Amino acid sequence: MTPHDRRPHDGKPHDRWILRTENTTYAVALAGDGQWAELTAWGPHGVETGPSALDWSRRTHFITPADAAPAEYIPYGLRPFTGADLVAQRPGEERGVWWRFTDATEDGDRALRLVFTDELLGLTAALCYEAVPGTDVILRWTELTCTGDTELRLERFDSAAVNIPAEAGARLTCLTGQWAREFQLTQLELARGRFEMASTQGVPGHAYAPWLAVQDAASPAEGATPTYGIALEWSGNWHITADAEPGGAVRVRAGRLPHESAVRLASGATLTTPRLACAFSPDGLDGLARVWHRYERHLTGDRMDRPRKVLYNSWEATGFDVDAASQLELARIAADMGAELFVVDDGWFTGRPDDTGGLGDWHPDPASFPDGFDHFVSRVRDLGMDFGLWIEPEAISPNSALYAEHPEWVYRVEGRPATLVRNQLLLDLGRVDVQDFVLATLDRLLGDHDISYLKWDMNRPPTERGRPGAGPVERQDLDAAHVAGYLRVLDHLRTEHPHVTVEGCAGGGGRIEHATIARTDVVWPSDNTAPLDRLSIQYGYLHAHAPHTMSSWVTDSPGVFDPRPRSLAFRFVSSAAGVLGIGADIRTWPEERRAEAAEWIARYKEIREVIHHGEVGLLNTPADATCGVQYEEPGGGRVVVTAWNTGRLDGAPLVPGRPARLRLRGLDAAARYRDAASGQVYSGAHLVHSGLPFAWTERYDAELVVLVRQ
Ligand code: DGJ
Repeated sequence: MTPHDRRPHDGKPHDRWILRTENTTYAVALAGDGQWAELTAWGPHGVETGPSALDWSRRTHFITPADAAPAEYIPYGLRPFTGADLVAQRPGEERGVWWRFTDATEDGDRALRLVFTDELLGLTAALCYEAVPGTDVILRWTELTCTGDTELRLERFDSAAVNIPAEAGARLTCLTGQWAREFQLTQLELARGRFEMASTQGVPGHAYAPWLAVQDAASPAEGATPTYGIALEWSGNWHITADAEPGGAVRVRAGRLPHESAVRLASGATLTTPRLACAFSPDGLDGLARVWHRYERHLTGDRMDRPRKVLYNSWEATGFDVDAASQLELARIAADMGAELFVVDDGWFTGRPDDTGGLGDWHPDPASFPDGFDHFVSRVRDLGMDFGLWIEPEAISPNSALYAEHPEWVYRVEGRPATLVRNQLLLDLGRVDVQDFVLATLDRLLGDHDISYLKWDMNRPPTERGRPGAGPVERQDLDAAHVAGYLRVLDHLRTEHPHVTVEGCAGGGGRIEHATIARTDVVWPSDNTAPLDRLSIQYGYLHAHAPHTMSSWVTDSPGVFDPRPRSLAFRFVSSAAGVLGIGADIRTWPEERRAEAAEWIARYKEIREVIHHGEVGLLNTPADATCGVQYEEPGGGRVVVTAWNTGRLDGAPLVPGRPARLRLRGLDAAARYRDAASGQVYSGAHLVHSGLPFAWTERYDAELVVLVRQ
């Protein structure tokens, strides 16, 4: 950043700063006589010209102007009543911060840093902004420095707050769920009061994604509705709070939640909060999804160039019953069908006949691989496939050799019983010795064997989360330490083993956020692969995350979860909507089914680049009889449509000559598009206004259409 001083002059600060993304402007001004910064405009370029839609604070009584202000970041003290982003004190003294603006540096309209100082307390706060190139995302975070001689206690230290005008109250859209039911798109209206989502599970969790979209409740969710979104880049405990404020705005605050309920900031120390990604689209939730997809392609960087290989994973077929013979049988069939990568899931290591043991002792079980693990891996590779392995590096079984050697590596509270979740305990990955053990384990496995794919799983939250003997609890920050350890190991994988593809998983979708997405290649949204359940999981997921990150398997139907059967085509089209994998017990599949699968895999390989790089349109919802996803190739040459009949046959689908229609989005009305399979030619206008037709029958319930622009 080229520093450019914007100190307040003549004692009356009134400065204003502009950040610009590809299509949006974010304007900030000093207010309150230089005591805080306010948002004055956020929206399409030009929105900053005109009076602020959020400025009503001068007309309030009984609360302070700071309470009513659309403040960018404001502490308790200065803002006494309506919810502050920072709560700080000297230990034992009154809480409260009263600061003043002291400095600003900016880098054109791309980056900004606003500094506020409370000299009496000894605290400076730098509000940091960065517009992400090629996207409509602004990253925001805060750096808090203790400048006095006395340490500070921080009870709340959010990353940022965003203020959104919502005259008639707000429509909040969030992604909620539980294990095997993640990413359910959930909407609620907030006219007054507070809405809060959080996780204290040491990971973002299955219950809520650290993601929120906000719209004015008076406008429809789709179409030309201004839509604002936030997503917190943090792999540990978090919270997001939305307050409907009296003046017709919603103020959303987001940040970490420390395990110890507060952190200490030592004299001279700086705490940097996680980054909050702030996104805007003028085109409803569907448009906001495209903003997030583009941002995640940016996070993936050069690794976007690697085609995501068609995977076979053995978990649903063999569970813990892993041995070379059964795995090779699966591998041969998978290779014949066109799979490019074979992943052995849980159960390959010593002491793991079931989920009661083995975790921590990461050595291939010689009883399962009698000719040696390398021999097994090379036989998989001889089939023309890459080889991948499941691992749960943070986990430890109480009966493992690792636990016998290092019981002190486990989170625990002295004198209290340890809760077992899935029969296992959790390593304190915040400890450097534990991180070093995990790094050495991964280096050994990746060095000793020809492994090009790792699935990193995590199946239990920290319960008794202590580190006995490590000094006063109030000076620990176990959650941040665990996250730092997790990211250190992932960063090591990326730099030391760049050829290895990494899949992120936490009992399904328990740890999916931008820090993980930036360091992995794909993530596993849910253990639930049942066709109709999966459709709504993926529908929610695609609102927040990009298709190239969405690992998805074709499994048997009816299978482990939802018993409603759907066709093989349905399951293939559903998995092809992201990164296609197979997880079924293909040993039981008759020849015709394997042949059909081979055809689907071949078709997917032809269009996966469009799926992973294209602009997405989410068409209808899984609650509709027909829904789909459209992917438009950059440059618009091909448009791929994945479409499903969800089984609701009300409406038109089974009436001959009256097919169901899916209206596509944003195509060039004058262009002509040819269906590559049928040869049918449509105009863009027809596809957008009348829709792409599907003549569903009871058996024909899904389609993958490739439209080639003429
Ligand atoms: C949970 C994961 O989500 C599953 O895919 C599988 O890997 C199991 N763990 C294995 O224990």
